[in-house]
Amino acid sequence: MIRGKFITLEGGEGVGKTTNLEFIRDYLQNRGTRFLVTREPGGTPIGEAVRRLVIDSQGMEAQTELLLMFAARAQHIREVIEPALADGVWVVCDRFTDASYAYQGGGRGIDTEIIQFLEQWLQKGLQPDLTLLFDAPIAVGLTRAQSRGQLDRFETELPDFLSRVRETYCDLARRWPHRIKLLDATQPLAGVQAEIAKHLDSLFQS
Ligand code: TMP
Repeated sequence: MIRGKFITLEGGEGVGKTTNLEFIRDYLQNRGTRFLVTREPGGTPIGEAVRRLVIDSQGMEAQTELLLMFAARAQHIREVIEPALADGVWVVCDRFTDASYAYQGGGRGIDTEIIQFLEQWLQKGLQPDLTLLFDAPIAVGLTRAQSRGQLDRFETELPDFLSRVRETYCDLARRWPHRIKLLDATQPLAGVQAEIAKHLDSLFQS
């Protein structure tokens, strides 16, 4: 059995991940690929319960937030991601560990080494084959997020926090250029999707 590919989507608030997820779904369906779409935090009953807690709670400590993200992730990896990949199914995940580096590391200021420790302990070398990082100035993303309706706890963070999240994502893309592909989410949608298709084409050839 050929192992499935693991694709993750990342980016700040309101950068258009959901719209592009639909494009990826159509692309993989047209290719006849067996795949599943999932998200973090979430993706399992336990993970979805953690998601509600982490997104809705007020007064949550940064350490609590980080550990809950990884608690949901541990469950997700063992219950969904690893079994699917081993079965040859491609996994498309809306956010993964890069989000912990960006939000809890960059945003909340938790030491990178602590996140690295949790990553190594829980992922045992599991890494996405491709990460699509949607990038837009925070003002653009926030306007889009606002137009969707009520803002959650992360979307109402101060601009400084959101700028640190964005910078950390861009640093990660510079650090892992083969895995993380930075996409300019301010260009017309057709341009973004042409780039996504190009990266997916390469993944099929790899
Ligand atoms: P969403 O906006 O993609 O629905 O994700 C929910 C929020 O969770 C988003 O604002 C970013 C945040 N998040 C983290 O802070 N750390 C993480 O590790 C993950 C996966 C998400």
